[in-house]
Amino acid sequence: MPTNNPLFSMLMTAMLFGATAVLADVTPTQRPGQAAISSAHELATEAGFEILQAGGNAFDAAVAVSAALAVVEPESSGIGGGGFWLMHRAEDGFSTMVDGRETAPAAATGDMYLDENGEFVRERSINGPLAAGIPGAPAAWVHITEHYGRLRLEQNLAPAIRLATDGFGVDEKYVMLMGWRGEVMLQWPETAAIFLPNGQDLNVGDRIVQPDLAATLERLAEHGFDGFYRGTTAERLVEGANAEGGIWRLDDLADYQVIEREPITIQYDEYRLLTAAPPSSGGIAIAQILNLIEPYDWPALSRTDQVHLLAESMRRAYRDRSLYLGDPDFSDIPVQRLISPDYADGLRSTMRLDRALPSSFLAADPDLIEESNNTTHFSLIDADGNIVSATLTVNLPFGAAFAPPGTGVLLNNEMDDFAAAPGEPNAYGLIGFAANAIEPGKRMLSSMSPTIVLGPERVAVLGTPGGSRIITMVVLGILDFFDGHGPHSWVSKPRFHHQYLPDEILLENDALTDQQIEDLESRGHEVTLRERPWGNMHGVMWNRANGTLEAAHDPRWTSGGADVRTIDASHTVD
Ligand code: DON
Repeated sequence: MPTNNPLFSMLMTAMLFGATAVLADVTPTQRPGQAAISSAHELATEAGFEILQAGGNAFDAAVAVSAALAVVEPESSGIGGGGFWLMHRAEDGFSTMVDGRETAPAAATGDMYLDENGEFVRERSINGPLAAGIPGAPAAWVHITEHYGRLRLEQNLAPAIRLATDGFGVDEKYVMLMGWRGEVMLQWPETAAIFLPNGQDLNVGDRIVQPDLAATLERLAEHGFDGFYRGTTAERLVEGANAEGGIWRLDDLADYQVIEREPITIQYDEYRLLTAAPPSSGGIAIAQILNLIEPYDWPALSRTDQVHLLAESMRRAYRDRSLYLGDPDFSDIPVQRLISPDYADGLRSTMRLDRALPSSFLAADPDLIEESNNTTHFSLIDADGNIVSATLTVNLPFGAAFAPPGTGVLLNNEMDDFAAAPGEPNAYGLIGFAANAIEPGKRMLSSMSPTIVLGPERVAVLGTPGGSRIITMVVLGILDFFDGHGPHSWVSKPRFHHQYLPDEILLENDALTDQQIEDLESRGHEVTLRERPWGNMHGVMWNRANGTLEAAHDPRWTSGGADVRTIDASHTVD
């Protein structure tokens, strides 16, 4: 790991609108010649390759993969949700983050999830249409195709429309997560009829056919933005949502805007990291964690020392997340301060190698953290070296578990990512304050951290679902890449996590030995072993030195699709 280099420096710019060129690390003369895609579903990966074969570029393929995931992995992301598409164009080195995050409806209020006694009622922020933000995903697909693609939207959406029409067999993850959310969904029989066709009796291989979604996708394919955000689809969404307690207005949809944001850019020794800008907290937290561990002679440290120092760094970055981060269009976020090495020097002065600093000494409240594994990430490089790293979500599995009748659009429950009251933990135990309070039209803070690391020889593309744990998983993946490993290693490495509150190091089963755990406990850490692993990382790597591509999906789930293929160059765009 290149942490000893005195030339270490960190650059970061997070402009609110528009994106400018970031250094052209991928020179135009070098191209992989092959393409690599790793996504959470093999049918979505297939859709991406189909579009590349048809003459599309990485950006077209990203739209095809996103739309296909919306059909075949509805537990994780979808047309009723949102996400961040971090993109790097080979020919001129331009990089941008397409922000398709959901927004709070105009009628949203700061106390909308509190009861008459001012108590937070979680059911309201996670179940049914009141929990849903205005979707951003379809607007992002239109935007990416129009501004960066080579194909038409109807071509990029064709594989998804086919999958929705013909149906697909559900996998183990779908069945497992439906086991958690099915009961909520059964409150809305029309929604359950689509996603739970035989009632609660759901088995791997059962087919889900989505004709309403196919028709919604077709309207989008034909009319672009207006095909979803105005007209038939918009009317059905608003009517259906409000009949079940929603507060949407037609203008909420018509006014939705995709925003391009300059990625958080970090120079770390010879590597240039491009990662998620606010309203994601991911890039800033990754920068802070890397800054905090920078001066240590990493290879000389024991494994326990490394885990301890990373946990202490994670604790501090997540504390700042809770205090300072939110939608940059609504709050002044002290980005430059948070990511500056000087600030890290100050924070590090409270770090000791032999003792953990209790989070209560840094401020605030502990609480619950619930199980979940949804959201989705895919990584993709085309034969020309164009790159997309995208993390997409509907928040909890199957989002709000409600689809307005006649649309097939499963709504997200992203409103829960706001701080419903100051210091009130969300479903991932993350707390927040004014910067992430609910306001009309505002984007809720996210942890999604799609990342691209451009090195002189190797290029990494990675990301993962996992709620609050996304950021720390991506940090561990980046450190493993710095250590010289490829994507099979990043995605499978045992994970550990600290998020300030609850004040504990969370461990996957095989992450540390008993002795190492005892050592951490003796320094004052609470260490919690978690039976179930977390995350679903999808990575690809391009080794420019030897001209190879690698793609890997997380072994924690069986359903991923990762492949490297030669694209037949004879195909042309029609
Ligand atoms: O945007 C966020 O940070 C969350 N809505 C992501 C949720 C997630 O990753 C769930 N997966 N386990």
